[in-house]
Amino acid sequence: MKVLVLNGPNLGRLDIRDSSIYGDMTYPALVAHIENAAKTHGFEADVRQSNDEAEIIGWLHEAADTKTPVIINPAAFTHYSYAIRDAAELVKAPLIEVHLSNPLSREEFRHTSVISGVANGTIGGFGPNSYVLALIALKALIS
Ligand code: DQA
Repeated sequence: MKVLVLNGPNLGRLDIRDSSIYGDMTYPALVAHIENAAKTHGFEADVRQSNDEAEIIGWLHEAADTKTPVIINPAAFTHYSYAIRDAAELVKAPLIEVHLSNPLSREEFRHTSVISGVANGTIGGFGPNSYVLALIALKALIS
C-alpha cells in the first residue's frame, strides 16, 4: 500500500538546521530512512518536501482524491496554517502528524498545533524514528 509522506518548510535543509534539536541526519538520509522503514512494514512511501503551503495543500487534495494515507510533518505550518488544516481534514484515509523534535518541550508558539485536531494522532520527539513509529501506527490503523 502507498503512503504519502509530506514534509513542510525547511525540512529539506536539515544539513544546516540546529543538530542539537533535529539531529544530524540530512534530508536525503531521512528520505532513505523512511523509504526503508516503509518497505519493512509493507508500504511504498512517496516522500515529498515543500516550502510552499499551496503545494502541500495540492498534495493533500491528491491524497483525498486517491484515498491515500498520509504521514505529515507540517514543520512551522503546524502552528498556524488553517489552510493546511482544512486540506488535511479532506483526507479520509488515516493521517498522522509527526515531528522530529518534541514541540511541547520547546518555545510556547510551538505548543499549538492546528493540525492535530484533524489527525488520527501525533508523534514527536523521536527524531527520524517519529516517522517509523507513524508507519507502525498506520499499519495498525488500516489492518
Ligand atoms: C518540526 C517542529 C516545528 O516546530 C518546526 O517549525 C519545524 C520542524 C519538527 O519536526 O520537529 O520546522 O515540525
